[in-house]
Amino acid sequence: MFETDTEGIRQEAATGALPARDRVEQLVRAAHERYRGVDAGSVADYIPALAEADHGWFGICVADTAGGLVEIGDTGVPFSIQSISKAFVYALVCDAFGHERIGELVGVDNTGLPFNSVIALELNGGHPMNPMVNAGAIATTALVAGETADAKWETIARGLARFAGRALEVDDRVFTSESETNSRNQAIARLLQSYGRLDGEPGEIVEVYTRQCSLLVTARDIAIMGATLADGGVNPVTGERVVSEEVSRDTLAVLAANGLYERSGEWLFQIGLPAKSGVSGGIVSIAPGKGAIGTFAPPLDAAGNSVRGERATAYLSRTLGLNLFASAAVGASAVPAPASTPAPDERTV
Ligand code: DON
Repeated sequence: MFETDTEGIRQEAATGALPARDRVEQLVRAAHERYRGVDAGSVADYIPALAEADHGWFGICVADTAGGLVEIGDTGVPFSIQSISKAFVYALVCDAFGHERIGELVGVDNTGLPFNSVIALELNGGHPMNPMVNAGAIATTALVAGETADAKWETIARGLARFAGRALEVDDRVFTSESETNSRNQAIARLLQSYGRLDGEPGEIVEVYTRQCSLLVTARDIAIMGATLADGGVNPVTGERVVSEEVSRDTLAVLAANGLYERSGEWLFQIGLPAKSGVSGGIVSIAPGKGAIGTFAPPLDAAGNSVRGERATAYLSRTLGLNLFASAAVGASAVPAPASTPAPDERTV
């Protein structure tokens, strides 16, 4: 199970809005205080440049659908977006072409296997199953609007900037480092091509995908990007519509099923929110209609998800009442009283 410690933390029911700002501030401070000393997990090093991250970095930002931000810690430290980009590129492609076409080509179901699994692709006749694993993300990047790799890149860079509300830069060191070591992704792209499921030249598509993963963001950025999906596709800070309401809904459904890879079920069970993690240590979790939580802390668990991020998100999901599955009884007055129930004025409590 996930490294959360929810025992004894009261589960508030999900209601229509976030609690008042001072309560959110208090809980964000408490989450940071509670987990900043946790040093479990290890920093990703299969992309060599990522190993240079400071193990102690820890930022939390809550962005609401009215454009408000509550943040603490290292929320301005840039890190490469990595797999979190998959969610937003998927949303852009669905917005451009409709989710039916992408759904058929890429799917929405969990593979039950790690994000870079080759076996998953073989077991499913070359179907990537969903756009959050590397195979599905590479196939999705191939579908991005644009005749050439450069044009596709422009579409991605412009689209992700609209989600964040500011221009994002590529970390060239991370891009070069991953490009020199991504033979597995290149193999996945060739395998997709062999099954007739890659639209384009594999090397070029993997290069665009690697570049999208190298875009620099902060915990604040990913919170705003998530809040855009929570806000029916409108960036709540800039007021700009980025994708449609339908695309926001569909993207969140895909994140709920696959955002934390083979551990997505556990995540939903414990945290109850659509979310997406990345190997640099970011996690964005989205509460539809309310806002999003962006966390950043580099040390990861065995599945590649930030340990402090998981814990802080679990704490905030509970205390802010974000878990989508948590309801509270409407109250005795809403339930028809059985014949034996005493009339209200006869009750002692
Ligand atoms: O393709 C890769 O392996 C990386 N660019 C992204 C992987 C990633 O972020 C997985 N996340 N937990």
